[in-house]
Order: sequence, then structure tokens, then C-alpha cells
Amino acid sequence: MDRGPSTRAVHAGLPPAEQGEPLAPGPVLAAPYHLRGAADAADYGYARDANPTWSVVEAALGALEDAESVLFSSGMAALCALLEPALGPGDVLVAVRDGYPGVRGVANDRLAPRGVELRFVPTDTEAIVAACDGATFVWVETPSNPRLDVCDIAAVAEAAHAAGARLAVDNTLATPLGQRPLEHGADAVMYSATKTLSGHSDLVLGAVAVRDPEWAAALRKHRSQGGAIAGPFEAWLLQRSLPTLALRLVRQSENALALARMLRDHPGVSDVRHPGLEDHPGHALAARQMLHAGSLVGFSLDGAERAQRFLGALELVAEATSFGGVHSSAERRARWGTDDVAEGFIRFSAGCEDVDDLLADVEQALAQR
Ligand SMILES: Cc1ncc(COP(=O)(O)O)c(C=O)c1O
Repeated sequence: MDRGPSTRAVHAGLPPAEQGEPLAPGPVLAAPYHLRGAADAADYGYARDANPTWSVVEAALGALEDAESVLFSSGMAALCALLEPALGPGDVLVAVRDGYPGVRGVANDRLAPRGVELRFVPTDTEAIVAACDGATFVWVETPSNPRLDVCDIAAVAEAAHAAGARLAVDNTLATPLGQRPLEHGADAVMYSATKTLSGHSDLVLGAVAVRDPEWAAALRKHRSQGGAIAGPFEAWLLQRSLPTLALRLVRQSENALALARMLRDHPGVSDVRHPGLEDHPGHALAARQMLHAGSLVGFSLDGAERAQRFLGALELVAEATSFGGVHSSAERRARWGTDDVAEGFIRFSAGCEDVDDLLADVEQALAQR
């Protein structure tokens, strides 16, 4: 039976009920396991290769994606595991230039020196499709981060496949309950589980989901060899967070949209960005492609100083990077120097607070000049 998203998030990956066993398994802290005889005599032999807590989380994420999931120590480790083995001399990577900057760093510092041709494009369906000719691998993030532009995953998948390339989508913002890139034709989905998937701002993890079992096996081998493995305790915290993903994502998306609407009508605030806003250029596509528009809102205040004063005046909202946590947070994105945004551009991550409290806090911080 096809169950609803909250039910799937609560039950995904749990082992069958056993008399006297806990409802949900605890973390397994072990390096070696009893392994008598042949190296493959048990599922677990050495913890860099496999761990029962990873298995629960991977089963859960896999169930949410209808795919095989592979857990990594961070989103960047997951990203590198997808890109580095796939690209060699003469290959072509098409990647968005307005998404998370980590991908551009890896492309420039690790892939280009080994002879990979890089084509950076904006998050715009036509521009990405036009760049796909001769591509080996295509990387998109939709909605893009931090300006939340949207591209058509199905159209990009078609163009990538016509060129013989694979398409990976960074789905960190939407999560598997907010957008299902594999259903739209993507070959791989990547997550920084540090963000909304875990949602409590207390761990760093990453994950990949693919439907090709050989690719999944290669990703696991890459993880064992490179050693970018998740600690079992962090993996367990993620396991513990997934059952509330649907609740968190719905609340965060509602809060983000309410905030975006309030900001759009606010004097002194410009360039309000959220895919759920009816006048967002990617709204119609987002409404078709996404199930929830996510926690992020972008907007501009008049210059860096004004933006810093606003951030300093917020009482409920932490000035912090990252996003997708239960606590609202915000930052002046230009402080990193990695994104093409105005000096006063704020990336705001709506948390799970009561919407009236959140809006009131933003109102009072805007009122202080
Ligand atoms: C969209 C996106 N992808 C990937 C990453 C990298 O993930 P991690 O910090 O878990 O390595 C981040 C981190 O900020 C991100 O925001």
C-alpha cells in the first residue's frame, strides 16, 4: 500500500517488530565485530565498511527515495563521492554557478587540474540544457542556494541523457519529502544531512541516493577506501530525526512562505525570494515539481550595515550559517565572498517557531534603524 509521507518518515527503515526488542534500535558503537571464518561470513566485520546504525538510516532514506542510499560523513564527502570517480581527463562537468559554492570549489581545485572541462551555468533550464552537449556529468541544485532559482529537473535529465551524461541533483533544501528528483529522471540525489534531514543543528552528515545497484556498490567502496564514514552516534541522531521530518518540513515551509509574504509588502525590503511566492519567476515550475517549497527565504536590505543591524536586533533568530534547523537562523550571505549577491542580501532559514512570534520578531528587528 502506498502510504503517506508522514507515515513513511515515521516507519521507514525500522526492523520488523521482535518480542522484547526496542521499537527503534539504538546506536551500535563498534570497530570490529565477531567474525569467525570467512571474511563475508557476517554482514558486519569492520566498522569502516559497514555498521548496523548506517544500515537503519540507509534503509530509511532508501525507502523515502525508492532507491539505494549511501551515508557519508558530510554533504561534501557525498558530493566528492559522486563527482570525483565519475570525471577524468577530457570529461565535461556542467554545474550550476549559483548553487552551494562547495561544488565549484571541488570542480576548480580538484577536477580542473586533472583535465576536466568545467561549464558553469546559471540555474535556468534553457541555459543548462544548452550546455549539456558533450557533457559527462551534470550537477544542479533546485531551488538554488541562496537565491532560490528553480530549474526543470525532467528537462535537464532529458538533455543530460541525450548527451550520454548523468544528472545529480543536490536536494538538500527540499529533502525527499519536498521533491523527488529521481522520479523526474535524475540519476543521483545528494544531501547535506547536516541541514533539514537531521534538522537540529547538531551534526554533520551527507547521503546519496541512486537506483543503479552497481553505482551504489561503487559509492560504498569509495566510502570504505576514502574513509569518509559517518560516526554511528551521528548516524543514530539522524535516524532519530527522520520520523519528524514531515512535521518539520511542513512547518518550516509554512513559516517561510508567511515570512516571504510579509517581507514582500514591507517598505525597505527588496528582492524577496521564495519559490512559494506567486510572483517568484520559478513559482509555476516549483508548484509542479515540488511538494513543499522549503525553509529558505532570501531578501535584501539596504547595504551591509543595515543588514547587520537587522540581524543583531533579532531576538528569536540566531545569526548563523547553515539552514533547515528547528531554530530559525539568518545570515548576511555576502560575508563569505562566495555568492553573487548584494551586500545586504539575507538568507533566512525559517524554523519551527509559532509563525506569529517569528513574524513579530522580524517586524521589530526591521523597525530598529
Ligand atoms: C545545498 C548544500 N549542499 C551541500 C552542502 C555541504 O554539506 P556539508 O556541510 O554537510 O558537508 C551544503 C552545506 O552548507 C549545502 O548547503
